[in-house]
Amino acid sequence: MEQELLLTVKSWVIEAGEQIKESLKSSIEVDIKSNRRDLVTNIDKATEAFLVDKIKAAYPNDHIVGEEGISDKPETVAGRVWVIDPIDGTMNFVLQQRNFCVMIGIFEDGEPKLGFIYDVMANRFVYGGKSTGVYLNDTKLAPVENTSLADGLMGSNGSMFAHDVHGTQKVGNEAMGVRILGCAGLDFLSVICGEQCGYISNLAPWDYAAGVALSEPLGLKCSYLSGKPYHILDGREYFIVATTQTYQDAMVILN
Ligand code: IPD
Ligand code: CA
Ligand code: CA
Ligand code: CA
Repeated sequence: MEQELLLTVKSWVIEAGEQIKESLKSSIEVDIKSNRRDLVTNIDKATEAFLVDKIKAAYPNDHIVGEEGISDKPETVAGRVWVIDPIDGTMNFVLQQRNFCVMIGIFEDGEPKLGFIYDVMANRFVYGGKSTGVYLNDTKLAPVENTSLADGLMGSNGSMFAHDVHGTQKVGNEAMGVRILGCAGLDFLSVICGEQCGYISNLAPWDYAAGVALSEPLGLKCSYLSGKPYHILDGREYFIVATTQTYQDAMVILN
C-alpha cells in the first residue's frame, strides 16, 4: 500500500519539477509576503495548486497543509495529513534559478510515513519512509554514519547564524565547518546523504515534514532546539536535525 503511494507521489513530484524547469524559460512574477526576504512567486502557487489537485482527486478524505495557503487547516493529526512546500528555497529559485526543491511529507495519525525532497535542477531526489526504505534516485540509502559534531559539517539558517541566535555560532565553532544553503530541504538532503552532520534552523512544518519522514528511518534524530518533540501542526520553531544522538545532545547542551 505504502509502496504504491510512494510511486504515485514520486511521479507527481517529478511532473511538478518538469513544470518548474519549464517555467524558468519565461519571466517569473515575484511577490513579497511578510518582508523583503520572504518571497513567493506565481510558480510556488502553481506548483502547490498542481500537487493539491492531484491529492484531492486521488485521496479526497485526506487533509492537506500547504505553505502558500491551500490548506484545510486540520485541527488534529488524526488520519492522513499531507504537508507541502511547493518550492523550498524560493529566494534561491528567484536569484539563482537553482538550489531549491519540491517537498512533501505524509503523516498518519501524527507519525511520519513518507517524505519526498526533489532537488529539481541537480536531479537529486530522496524519497521513501520507514516501511519502504529511503532512496536517493534509484539507490537505497543505508543508515547514516554516526559522526560527531567535531568531525562533521553543520548546516544553518543564514540569519540565525549571522545573529548568533541560540548560540548557533558556538555550535558552528565546535563543528568541522558551517554550510548555509538557503534551503531547508537541501540541508535535510545533505544530512540524509551523509554529506553534512546536522542542520539547525527556524522552521515551519512544511520546511521539515518531508525531512523528518526521510531522516528518522536512517537513524537521524529530529526535534526542536528545546529538545521537545516536533508536532506537525505547530507553528514555526527553532529546529535541529542531527545525524546522531551524540551530535544532538552536543547541540542541546551547547544551548
Ligand atoms: C525557507 C528556506 C530557508 C529557511 C527558512 C525557510 P521557503 O523556505 O528553507 O532555507 O531558512 O526558514 O522558510 O520560504 O523558501 O520555502
Ligand atoms: Ca516561503
Ligand atoms: Ca520552505
Ligand atoms: Ca516554500
